[in-house]
Amino acid sequence: MFQKHIAILAISGSGKSYLTSVLFEELLDRMEELGKPAIIVIDPHAEYVGFAKDKRYGQSVKVFDKKNISIAASALSTYQLMEFIPQISPAQSRELYGIIENLRSKKRQYGFKELVTAIETSEIKRVTKDVLISWIMGLESKDLFSNYTRPSMAELVKPGQLSVLDVSDFVSMKEKQMIVTYFARQLFNQRRDGKIAPFIFVVEEAHNFCPEGTRKEGALSRRIIETIAREGRKFHASLVLISQRPIQLSTTALSQCNTHIILRVTNPYDLDHIGKSSEGLNSDVVKTIPGLRVGEALIVGEAVNHPVLVRVRGRKSQKSEKGIPFEEALLKYKAKTKEKEKDMEAFM
Ligand SMILES: Nc1ncnc2c1ncn2[C@@H]1O[C@H](COP(=O)(O)OP(=O)(O)OP(=O)(O)O)[C@@H](O)[C@H]1O
Ligand SMILES: [Mg+2]
Repeated sequence: MFQKHIAILAISGSGKSYLTSVLFEELLDRMEELGKPAIIVIDPHAEYVGFAKDKRYGQSVKVFDKKNISIAASALSTYQLMEFIPQISPAQSRELYGIIENLRSKKRQYGFKELVTAIETSEIKRVTKDVLISWIMGLESKDLFSNYTRPSMAELVKPGQLSVLDVSDFVSMKEKQMIVTYFARQLFNQRRDGKIAPFIFVVEEAHNFCPEGTRKEGALSRRIIETIAREGRKFHASLVLISQRPIQLSTTALSQCNTHIILRVTNPYDLDHIGKSSEGLNSDVVKTIPGLRVGEALIVGEAVNHPVLVRVRGRKSQKSEKGIPFEEALLKYKAKTKEKEKDMEAFM
């Protein structure tokens, strides 16, 4: 099934992430003799971090979160750096390219500060200098960049390992997109060059990372996801796109997903969109989609001859709830204020 790309589509709360967890279990449980793929998941809500603590699966799972995700300025090719500055004009990018090449020839490791100095001392026009510097400073101010790139591709991509890129603690969508852009491009390039194992790249909330129609400034990661969708199959780089808003998902990427797993969808526009983009789905079958219950899924496309209705089995792994329930938060807050009051009393 994973030989081709997959889209998992349904409204919120219909069981997409649950189904995805079950698919992860199946992949991790695969017999060694059959070969195991590397799995990398973009996890915007820290939904899969629980796998790492699970008795059965924990040892094959690695979680990377804000504390251990970073990108080194000098690890970015000029092309990758420019992917982060989508508003750059061709003329500006030529100037920046020259400056970076020059800096590279002198130094292997450099940070954004050194790049700014290099721009400042270059021969280009003042106005161009100013815009380039402001963009680079904008990047420098993000927590995402440091002197190291972590995780390394060797840590991220291991056959039989589920790697969770937990981006929930990065506040801005732009930072999350930068992470997806950087790692997805590394994954694609290194797989194409045969440097890493065949992998399955799973993108939750795919409409945020590969949206249809928004300007490129709002969709840094769209281009690389579409590239993997179009060309990944040749190199055994599989894509799984998960979305509760199929209508906002890039049609280029969606049309490359040969297998669609559809759970409950109610919005008529989304239904219409799914009907059009899923081959082998006739209008009678589409009519059954709003009636699906939680845990029921319709599989259509290349993996099956005709639409198949399945019941998703119960999961074996433990669920991860990020954060604490509301009531617990209230009690914690109360305890904390009490402590503060005590401290105050002692102080007076
Ligand atoms: N096959 C199933 N068996 C039992 N419970 C399920 C099943 N599928 C989903 N659930 C339950 O339904 C709830 C919603 O599931 P889930 O979080 O997977 O939805 P989702 O489609 O990913 O939602 P969102 O779009 O908000 O991310 C969860 O509490 C989950 O435990
Ligand atoms: Mg979900």
